[in-house]
Amino acid sequence: MLKVEEQQPVTFSSALVASFDEIVNRYPAGKQKSALLPILHLVQAEFGWTSVPAMDKVAEYLQIEPIEVYEVASFYTMYFLQPKGKYVLEVCRTGPCCLVGAEKIMNHIENKLGVKEGEVTPDGLFSWRGVECLAACGFAPVLQIGPEYTFYENLTEESVDKLIDDLKNKQI
Ligand code: FES
Repeated sequence: MLKVEEQQPVTFSSALVASFDEIVNRYPAGKQKSALLPILHLVQAEFGWTSVPAMDKVAEYLQIEPIEVYEVASFYTMYFLQPKGKYVLEVCRTGPCCLVGAEKIMNHIENKLGVKEGEVTPDGLFSWRGVECLAACGFAPVLQIGPEYTFYENLTEESVDKLIDDLKNKQI
């Protein structure tokens, strides 16, 4: 896990700021804080994750306190507060999925990728984490991969191997 003091300063490009401006202009004057969620999505897409320096710059841009940004970014799980892989395998770890092997699947992913939950593989391609119910309990065990949130259902160790290998091969 990257400590705050290890996180690099960020600079927002003029194109990124123009995108922020376009979003802010959708709201009445003085209500620029309403643009916080979509702006954080843009920041995460630009930098790969939502670092403290990036959140501080967002606060400065929106003329709000940094804590107001931290509160929102730490509430919603779609914002990653630590570096993540290009592909994040989010494995459901709620009861029904656990009953049919979610823990075994997570152990298998950890061993196959060689990284613990929340860590990034050295090639930057993968990270993984356990998440709460993905609302596909009838197809358990299940995982999803953002940003499109593609679902992979009825997982087995073999299907997970194939999924990871296919994603690796897409890079070649
Ligand atoms: Fe896993 Fe609902 S418990 S999708």
